[in-house]
Amino acid sequence: MLGLVTSTRETAPSVRSLLILGASGDLTGRLLFPGLARLLATGRHAGLTVVGAGAEDWGAEQWSQRVHDATEAALADATDAGRAELERIRRDSVYVQLDVTAPGELAREIAALPGPVAVYFALPPAVSQKACGLLGPADLPEGTRLVLEKPFGSSEASAAALNETLGRLVPESQIHRVDHFLGKGTVLNILGLRFANNFLEPVWNRDHIEKVEIFFDEDLALEGRAGYYDRAGALRDMIQSHLLQVLAVLAMDAPARLDERDVRDRISTVLRSARVPEPFTESTRRARYTAGSIGDRHVPDYTAEPGVDPSRGTETLAEITVMLASWRWAGVPFILRSGKALGARRKEAVVTFRPVPHLPEGFRGVDEPNRLRIGFGPDVLQLDVDVNGPGDVLTLNRVTLDADLGEADLLPYGEVLEGVLDGDPLLSVRADTAESCWRIVEPVLEAWAAGEVPLQTYAAGSRGPADWATSAAGEDGAGPS
Ligand code: BG6
Repeated sequence: MLGLVTSTRETAPSVRSLLILGASGDLTGRLLFPGLARLLATGRHAGLTVVGAGAEDWGAEQWSQRVHDATEAALADATDAGRAELERIRRDSVYVQLDVTAPGELAREIAALPGPVAVYFALPPAVSQKACGLLGPADLPEGTRLVLEKPFGSSEASAAALNETLGRLVPESQIHRVDHFLGKGTVLNILGLRFANNFLEPVWNRDHIEKVEIFFDEDLALEGRAGYYDRAGALRDMIQSHLLQVLAVLAMDAPARLDERDVRDRISTVLRSARVPEPFTESTRRARYTAGSIGDRHVPDYTAEPGVDPSRGTETLAEITVMLASWRWAGVPFILRSGKALGARRKEAVVTFRPVPHLPEGFRGVDEPNRLRIGFGPDVLQLDVDVNGPGDVLTLNRVTLDADLGEADLLPYGEVLEGVLDGDPLLSVRADTAESCWRIVEPVLEAWAAGEVPLQTYAAGSRGPADWATSAAGEDGAGPS
């Protein structure tokens, strides 16, 4: 648990029921339920009622199998109290078939559960919008929390419309827009690194930092997700949401308190100052993978994957440069890149410092800039520095100060869900920020749709198109793998 002191956490009543909509979907089985299970395995949140709901006609056995599978790993390291909880959930959790787009159905289900209820919309945005549009404030008992999966809307206007619909139902403090990157251990560690130490803040600005890069290169390919991914692409799937949140945490000013108001105000300020400069032919790039191999795994051409429509021109690798209009960051490029089917997994933020103003004459070797790397899996912190010696005492050598931050107790989804169950929106994306993220990428999406930036190709298993600077191996041969 994050253990942050927050104002809302102290006062909001704990959630007693979690209703998962889209419970038969892939996200619930792969991420949401395992995250919840690891949280319950701590023994916190005892007595929570968990109900799965979906459009599919699932029998009790199918649901029980899903709950069984998703709680298996968590049971292995559960506390005694946690084990009892997980066993109770395995026994008691039920699945209901529900058409959330049919008037009255969702409201009836919410009313039948012990309150306060958290309603988790693990559904496509258009379905969530429709379902919420059918609810009225009177359908939601005191303390109901609405939890929305990404993508939140599909444009600034649709995110604003969804915000308006939600705002008519419950106060903003009861709305949780999930971005599981805000629950990742190392993303949260950035707060401690930056604000519980004195050595970074004086140099954390345009005078000392040359550029900031945020990479999320995956070796996973499509993994059978064409139905979603082919309409999203790398820019919407990863950069519009996750990487912009990471950027905001790296760039924000120090909050007075780690509470939802202070932290989210600062995140919001960063993202309101952000834009992708034109021309987009220089500040953005996109590419799609062709057939290749990753290790001994053969990956087919993206366009040959079942469910892909090649005419959509979906990118599987995207890169944008974001500039921030602020005294701290004016002129410093924030380069955000993410893609699928790449040969090297590289999941890290790299802060490159400016060169020293004067290198004393007499040193031999190359003076390279300092680099701070924050790894998002494996969770590491590395600082590259130049020192002289050993051997010839005047020759500069590169050394890396390296710390393994270890795994967090909770999975990212569990961290975010804990905020939901405690009634603390600190790790949830606020309404205005969800809209800002679309505002930043929308002009790029439009330019790409109009064909203004060529769709390049790269072989699966490669580092990406060779003419992208970010495809080159790091000076150590690679980023973390
Ligand atoms: C999801 C994206 O939100 O994040 C996936 O839809 C991506 O495409 C995933 O693979 C990456 O996050 P993590 O935490 O699973 O590595």
